[in-house]
This record gives sequence, structure tokens and C-alpha cells, in this order.
Amino acid sequence: MSAPRLAVALVVVLALAGCSSEAPFSTPSTAQPSTTSGALPTTTPSAGTVTSTPGETSIAGGMPIVGSSSIGDPYFPALGSGGFDVDHYLLDLYIDVDEGWISGTTTITADATSTLLAFSLDLIGLEVSSITVDGLPADFTRSDTDILIEPGLPIPTGERFVVAVTYEGSPEPVLVPWFGLVSGWQNRSGATFVVAEPDAARGWFPGNDHPSDKATFTLRYTVDDPYLAIGNGVLTSTLPGDGVTTYVWEMDDPMTTYLATVVTGNYVRIDREGPGGVPLRDFIPADFEGGADEVPAAFDRVGEMIEVFSDTFGPYPFDVYGHAIVDGYPGALETQTTVIIGSSIVDSPFLGEIVVAHELAHMWFGDSVSPATWQDIWLNEGFATFGEWVWIEHADGPEAMLATVEGTHASMSRTPHPAPGDPGVPELFGDSVYLRGGLTLHALRAEVGDDLFFEALRAYYGRFAGGTAATADFIAVAEEVSNRDLTAFFDAWLYSTELPDLPTIPE
Ligand code: ARG
Ligand code: ZN
Repeated sequence: MSAPRLAVALVVVLALAGCSSEAPFSTPSTAQPSTTSGALPTTTPSAGTVTSTPGETSIAGGMPIVGSSSIGDPYFPALGSGGFDVDHYLLDLYIDVDEGWISGTTTITADATSTLLAFSLDLIGLEVSSITVDGLPADFTRSDTDILIEPGLPIPTGERFVVAVTYEGSPEPVLVPWFGLVSGWQNRSGATFVVAEPDAARGWFPGNDHPSDKATFTLRYTVDDPYLAIGNGVLTSTLPGDGVTTYVWEMDDPMTTYLATVVTGNYVRIDREGPGGVPLRDFIPADFEGGADEVPAAFDRVGEMIEVFSDTFGPYPFDVYGHAIVDGYPGALETQTTVIIGSSIVDSPFLGEIVVAHELAHMWFGDSVSPATWQDIWLNEGFATFGEWVWIEHADGPEAMLATVEGTHASMSRTPHPAPGDPGVPELFGDSVYLRGGLTLHALRAEVGDDLFFEALRAYYGRFAGGTAATADFIAVAEEVSNRDLTAFFDAWLYSTELPDLPTIPE
């Protein structure tokens, strides 16, 4: 071993001396409401955040560091890690559907953005039996929310490395009090599914659980026959085994961790032709009340919706689309290309089609263009709500859309609410983010006129598709396209609690 490597090895020992498995080295798992003001973050948290001294940050070939156990999200400081950037996840899991138990290996291919003595992955619960880095066994310690991994030798800046984590256990659902729903992994009789937004992906696979680190995914799920295991993207192989079948799904487009999913159970797959060569495949529970031999009425117009949104926002971002209906979940999640939607929503004549439009709009906004931080959540939900209105305008006409928008404004004016640009954790999925977020886009449309507004929307999507964007990025595109200073407009709509009046769209 050369002298520098020896020195490095000594630093590893010193750096890790303070980290025992009893002493959490990261922030507590409980989400702390932010105390940040309405000021926009000027930079996106980078993977270069460090726990060691500032001078050691991301210098190419610089001093080795222990990668931070936080990526620096203002709302969820425990999420994410610094010092590397994930390129690909391979989840190879056996799922015991009846027991709600999983076992297998998650293999992460990542690029070091600093020279790493050690680095963290997010993981809550589950039993980790072994970890390798580039095929060699690595030491690790765990806290409530992270695994700290020490490869035998430091990983140089810029180097690609492969971490394989072998684990098993029963993933726990998380009751999110401020959300009013159970999140994360869910077990039902003869079925499982996972809805991980915002912070529950770490409850079923280790990773860099923050939307700013997107990666491609291979999802290799093994279940007992006759269950089906549904993932994101394209089902590329179905491998029969001894009483089990392995389903391999490829998600070739970058995806955030919270959008990765697995749905298991007795499912019927229905394929349809979509517009522009986008195949539609939906997964209906075999015992679905409305019958599993055709798609429910709520899905009937999905092809037309894809056309309308492609015309309005830009080309559909992914290779395929569809839904997996689940029982006993009173909501939906825009899980990339395979939307999870509760059967009660699908069955509702009032909600079904509009929630379907909302989740589809998320493929552009949320999934393809993902939020840089959780404070930017209105870039997901406000845009998806605006997508509902785009659909209403197409399906029922401009008057129907305007009536919906005006009704929304009237109801928001009666309800005190936080500013959508900084809603805080308890209101992350509150009406301000969804409804006032949508109203913000409608007001911008009125402010700059249809031509410039829709040009700005398409420019924003075009520029950030496949990546992440912060609110400041959207504002910059809107100002650039309209050639106007929109500071006062966005301050009023996004960063002050008082609801501005609804401007009228010029004829
Ligand atoms: N993003 C979802 C939607 O608006 C709502 C949040 C779902 N999160 C969850 N854990 N179920 O469609
Ligand atoms: Zn939504």
C-alpha cells in the first residue's frame, strides 16, 4: 500500500470512530417542518454536500471525505446522501405476497462526485445481511434512517462503483399524520403495493432517496404462482421457476426513487393501442367488482388525454402507460408509467376520469420533470391540477373549465392556507399546493396570454424533461419566453399567503 493510501486508511478509522450503530449519524427520521422563509433556494442541493470540513467538498482528486448522510432537502433533511450520483438501480427481490415479506439484493451503480472514504444510503427497517462494493465485502453500520458503508479503499472522484445490498424483512407502512394516509409498503389480502411519495422508498429498498438523484431502474421481481408482479416501464421477460415466476421490468428513462413501485396480486393485464405508438397496459385485480375483462370507464379516454397533453405540454415522456388498480387505498400515485389508483377512485363517476387525467399529467410534471427539492412540490401538484383543467377545457369546453377554476378560486378565498411556494411539510399535499398551484398557472396564462403561456410551458418541459427543476427554473423560463419581469406576479401567487384576485383570460 502506498503512503497516501495508508494515510487515507487512517482517516477512515478516525472518521468512522464516532459512528457506532447506536449513535445515529444523521438527522432524526421525523420530518421537521421547515423554518425557511419564502426565499427561493438559489442552488439545487448537490450531491457534493459533506459532513467533513467545507474545504474538502468535491475537489476533483481532492481530499477523501465521508459522504454526507443528507442531500440537503429543506423539508426532509434525513433524505438523500452526498458524494455520489446514482446511475442505475437493480432491484432483485423475492416478494412473499401473503406474508408481506421481501428478500433479495438491490444493486446500485453510482458515480463518485467526491473521493469517498465512506458513504451513506437511505434505508429504514429490514435486515441487511451483507454489502459489497465493486464485488468486495464492505463494512457497514446502521442508524434509524441510513446505512454508512465503508469500502475497503476510498473511491476516487469521478469513478463509477457498484454497491450491492442484500437484505430481507417485512417493509413497514408509514402512517403520515400530516397527510392523513398510510404511505410506503402496503399489504392486502393476496396483494401488496407501494406508494412511496415523498419519503418511503427507503422503507423497501436502499438508495439515494431524493428526487434530485434520478436513475434508470431494472426491477426483477419473483412471486409465487399465480401472482403477478407489476413494476414500472416495460416487462421485458417473464421467467418461470419452481412454483414461482420472475418478472423483469425495465425503466430506461430516469426515475425518482419515490416513483419506483411493485404491485403484486392476482391481476389481469389488458393491452390497448395508445396514440403515437405508446402502448397502454392496465392491470385490473382479477376480482375487480366492475369485471376484469375490460378497462373501467374511467380509463376509456386515456389515449385522447395523451394526445391533448402531448399537444399542450410536449411529447409523452415514456415508452408505455397504464394503471394498476389497488384495493383499499383512497388515493392515487403517479408511479412512473404504471399509475397506482385505488378501486374506490376508479369506480367514482365524479372522481375517476379527473384523477386519471391528473395522474397522466404528472408523467410530464413530477415524473419527467421532477422537483429539485420537496419545497418545489407545487411544480408537481399545481401542474397536475392545471392538467385536469386542460382536460376539462378539451372535454367539456372553455366555460366548464372557467367555472371549475372560478369555483376553485372562490373556495380557496374562504380557506386560510400557506403560500404554495413554501407550504411546509404538513401542507405538502394540501389544497394550496394543488389548487392554488393550479390557479397560479391559470393566472399566468391570463397574465401573458395563451400563446406565450403555452410556449413557456412547452419550453419548461422541453428543457427539464428527464431531469429536475426548481421553482426558480420555471420562473426563469416564463420570464424568458414572455420577455417580462414576473417577480411581483410570482411573489404574490407563490410566496405570500394572501390569495391574489383571479385575472380574466383575455378574449
Ligand atoms: N402525488 C399524489 C397525487 O397527487 C398524492 C400523494 C400520494 N402519496 C402517497 N404516499 N400516496 O396524485
Ligand atoms: Zn398529484
